[in-house]
Amino acid sequence: MPYLDYAASAPLRPEALTAMLPLLERPAANPSSQHGQGRAARAAVETAREQVAALVGAAPGEVVFTSGGTEADNLAVKGTVLARAPEARHLVCSAVEHHAVLDAAAWAAADAGAQVDLAPVDGLGRVDPGRLGPLLQPGRTALVAVMAANNEVGTGQPVAAVAELAHAAGAVLLCDAVQAAGLPGVDMAADGIDLLALASHKLGGPTGVGALVVRAGTTLRPLVHGGGQERGLRSGTLPAAALAGFGAAAAAALADRHTTAGTTLATLRSHLLTGLRALAPDLEVNGDRFAPDPAGGLPGLLSVRFPGRRAEDLLLLLDRHGVACSAGSACASGAVTPSHVLVAMGRDPAAARETVRFSLGHASTQADVDAAVAAVAQALEVLAPAPQGVER
Ligand SMILES: Cc1ncc(COP(=O)(O)O)c(C=O)c1O
Repeated sequence: MPYLDYAASAPLRPEALTAMLPLLERPAANPSSQHGQGRAARAAVETAREQVAALVGAAPGEVVFTSGGTEADNLAVKGTVLARAPEARHLVCSAVEHHAVLDAAAWAAADAGAQVDLAPVDGLGRVDPGRLGPLLQPGRTALVAVMAANNEVGTGQPVAAVAELAHAAGAVLLCDAVQAAGLPGVDMAADGIDLLALASHKLGGPTGVGALVVRAGTTLRPLVHGGGQERGLRSGTLPAAALAGFGAAAAAALADRHTTAGTTLATLRSHLLTGLRALAPDLEVNGDRFAPDPAGGLPGLLSVRFPGRRAEDLLLLLDRHGVACSAGSACASGAVTPSHVLVAMGRDPAAARETVRFSLGHASTQADVDAAVAAVAQALEVLAPAPQGVER
């Protein structure tokens, strides 16, 4: 079945399954227990911590395991706000952040006295540091959130330049790298990132685990209290098997960087775009599709608008052919409101509703692309736009 929805969740990598199976088969043990089984589970967790740290250029001791990207973003935003004095709770978020960041910031504004400013993006979805800078309030801004690459349109962001501005104002930089973690260029130290969010299932690991990587010296208040695991920042028994899968997926994603995986994805995406353009010459591409994307966008993501065709109708027809893809972001699918990302990029809401996101990843093939193009061809025949002036 052609799966072109990696940005929603990637299929499990074989390496992740291999790492998880022995831990699932063995008697369950708590990694905090002192006995032999507990120590074995702890060893698996610590290997995973090293693998995840290596993926983003961090030290293993900086990795705080969470239940996924949403929790990592929430811990970063709320944990920073709560660690700051009430008069220093100003936040700046790019307008195209995931709802895990934007809604955590909205909570901070409603319930913790924070003030939130949104940094605008250009027509490609990119933050301009020159327009973000004036929003900073030195001494008052606690956190700036700019994601590594956008989950809906794939555009990369100038993270290092924004980090410099944030630090000069005394703020920390949160980089949501949930989509971009496997790409070259996402590096805690080199980019000056203080807080970095990851999700295992976007990398080809299991769902239900993720991490917030917290640069040493960054102050955070925990949101989940209990047994004091993860240096007191995130209590709860660690799921050793799932974390072993996360670690193995991170190691495999890192290994991909030294192969042609990125180029292969960009080539497949370009074949997909060529195929779709031949079917719908009026098709519009969202985001920056000029290779190479200077800010390192997602090589396997293609967001396109089919003018005159509603994305939900198209998705339904593609699903009948076994082709999986999304309208905008999966988290927002089903909601009638158009994507906040496309609207922030200046698309009108009607156009945003005609947008489909195809996303490729570690196991994608040319056959997937061909099947998707063939299915779109059939769907477009059914959904031929109405001739001008005719009501539909
Ligand atoms: C950029 C980004 N941040 C955060 C999340 C949330 O991650 P999770 O699904 O692991 O909670 C997603 C998921 O779509 C995402 O794409």
